[in-house]
Amino acid sequence: MSRVYNFGAGPSTLPESVLKKARDELLEWHATGISVMEMGHHSKEFASIAEKVEADLRELLVVPPGYQVLFLPGGGTGQFAAVPLNLGRDNPKFAYLHTGQWSGKAIVEAKRYGEVQVAASTEQQGFTSIPPRADWQFDSDVAYFHYTANETISGVEFQNPPEVGDIPLVADMSSNICSRPIDVSQFGVIYAGAQKNLGPAGIAIVIVRDDLMGHAHPFTPSIFDYKLQANAHSIVNTPPIYSWYMLGLELEWLKEQGGVVAIEKQNIRKAEKIYAVIDNSAFYLNKVDAAVRSRMNIPFHLADDNLEQAFLTKAKENGLVNLAGYRTIGGLRASIYNAMSEEGVDKLVAFMREFERTQG
Ligand SMILES: Cc1ncc(COP(=O)(O)O)c(C=O)c1O
Repeated sequence: MSRVYNFGAGPSTLPESVLKKARDELLEWHATGISVMEMGHHSKEFASIAEKVEADLRELLVVPPGYQVLFLPGGGTGQFAAVPLNLGRDNPKFAYLHTGQWSGKAIVEAKRYGEVQVAASTEQQGFTSIPPRADWQFDSDVAYFHYTANETISGVEFQNPPEVGDIPLVADMSSNICSRPIDVSQFGVIYAGAQKNLGPAGIAIVIVRDDLMGHAHPFTPSIFDYKLQANAHSIVNTPPIYSWYMLGLELEWLKEQGGVVAIEKQNIRKAEKIYAVIDNSAFYLNKVDAAVRSRMNIPFHLADDNLEQAFLTKAKENGLVNLAGYRTIGGLRASIYNAMSEEGVDKLVAFMREFERTQG
């Protein structure tokens, strides 16, 4: 067996120790005689797994009292609908920042349920910046303000949450949750699919402030109703229990690394190493404003795009895979979530330098 360095944007690399622990527990979990995959979702064994996952997530993100933590099916896309369904019944008017392809998809979905005010959009500039706060335009009586904390495709990341006063702030953190500390009390809702920073696909995390629950549209599907799910400990139906368990293993791993404060330092170092190669060369290009460059997803181009295929082929020969850009955008992209080791980044950096030396 030889594992390679996987720079895929999601599903993405998992820590090897997490995979090994899952392997060791695959046939039998904690002397129960059965695998987690075979457990009843209402069993006391699964309840103990779920309780630990929630406690670890609360600890890692320092979730204050007054917030529910939900584990839901449907990924980030499910939440594009769940947010307006839960928050928009009494006031179907929402503000969205359009800073990339994912916020664009969230906007399209929200339009099914109410009036969407696009406070600002960088679509015309190719999603390479975040417009200054003074230029955003939206009514002060919207039900919530939505933004995408990290745009996975174009590589634009907010370094701080937007200031929107008392309006409930909703953040899609699918591609940067737990990669840096956050102050949860600034948010009304935080959601994230697990498959980038926190485990395999199949489960989404929703952190929701208590007062924002209990006002869902009557036609909200039960599995997306925050209040119903909170009352049922996120088990309104049979949940993806194995993904939930794997998420737990990854949270344990993150705690062993020193938590989000320690991982943030590593994430800063890893991203700086790759941006340094790009910035110190005319061979590689990244067009994102330096102040809002993502630490998680680094899209880049070659000055000569004809060399891109050769880059991908040679990278693969060197054990560096999934470096192609988003399928509809092209170019190249290195996704370096929490679980990508610094060693993997060092190998990529060395490869990029060597490729430039030989092909540039
Ligand atoms: C920022 C962001 N939001 C939402 C999604 C959609 O997530 P899912 O595929 O879990 O529905 C993605 C997927 O890559 C994403 O990167």
